[in-house]
Amino acid sequence: MNTAKNRWSSAPWFRFDSISSTNTYLMDLPYNQIVEGMICSADMQTSGYGRGDRQWASPYGGLYLSILLIPDNPFKYWHLISFVMAVAAAQAIKQGFPDLQPGLKWPNDVLIGRRKIAGILVQCSQCPHPRLVVGIGINVSVKPESLPERTVFPAGIINLESSYPASIDRLRLTLKNGFFDLYREWLMNPLAIIQKWETWSTMIDKNVELSVSGKIFRGKCVGLAGDGALKIRIGTRVETFYSGDIVGIEDL
Ligand code: BTN
Repeated sequence: MNTAKNRWSSAPWFRFDSISSTNTYLMDLPYNQIVEGMICSADMQTSGYGRGDRQWASPYGGLYLSILLIPDNPFKYWHLISFVMAVAAAQAIKQGFPDLQPGLKWPNDVLIGRRKIAGILVQCSQCPHPRLVVGIGINVSVKPESLPERTVFPAGIINLESSYPASIDRLRLTLKNGFFDLYREWLMNPLAIIQKWETWSTMIDKNVELSVSGKIFRGKCVGLAGDGALKIRIGTRVETFYSGDIVGIEDL
């Protein structure tokens, strides 16, 4: 991996002990103050949120980080940016905790076994200038009782799964460097991230259950389409899905 200085290294990094949400902070910055590659991180969030406006429990012991990017229109692959962060997270976790095997669940969750240890949220706005904020939350050493109970893919915590010492600072730095390495590659070759994502995926060639607006689709996951959509073989047909929640994966 090339973690040498890159053109984003000098962008500001805002660090907080506590903040409402690192994503909100970057989304709300006045447009004349934004710089591509800006980072906001915090030791805890008081109003962290995730996909579908769900609350993201953000106590001390978690890693909360958001990065601001400025889309270069008409680049048409921006929706794949969550895969860049997901692959960066899997790589950083594997590097810091070699006894863990992170797996990616579509569209952008990081699992250890069937436990969700990280989630990614991408937000964007167009006015008056385009901006994109990619945020990630990772449960590194939070207290288990501070996380909500979930039956489907319950929350996991890295330091309960790994025998390696958990350093949030080190993980954050590895993640940030890895993200920008991948981001630079991705700007040059945007579709290559699909294959990288598939390499870390925990779903390929497995029977999965996808919930879309309350309807459950069951079939074998055969990979991602070039645009990041999920392909599932249902009977004899391969169907392509652009949204939904994976609620079951065989053998996890
Ligand atoms: C999800 O799985 O639903 C995505 C969770 C994303 C949480 C992160 S924590 C840092 C950033 N700030 C937020 O408020 N949300 C994201």
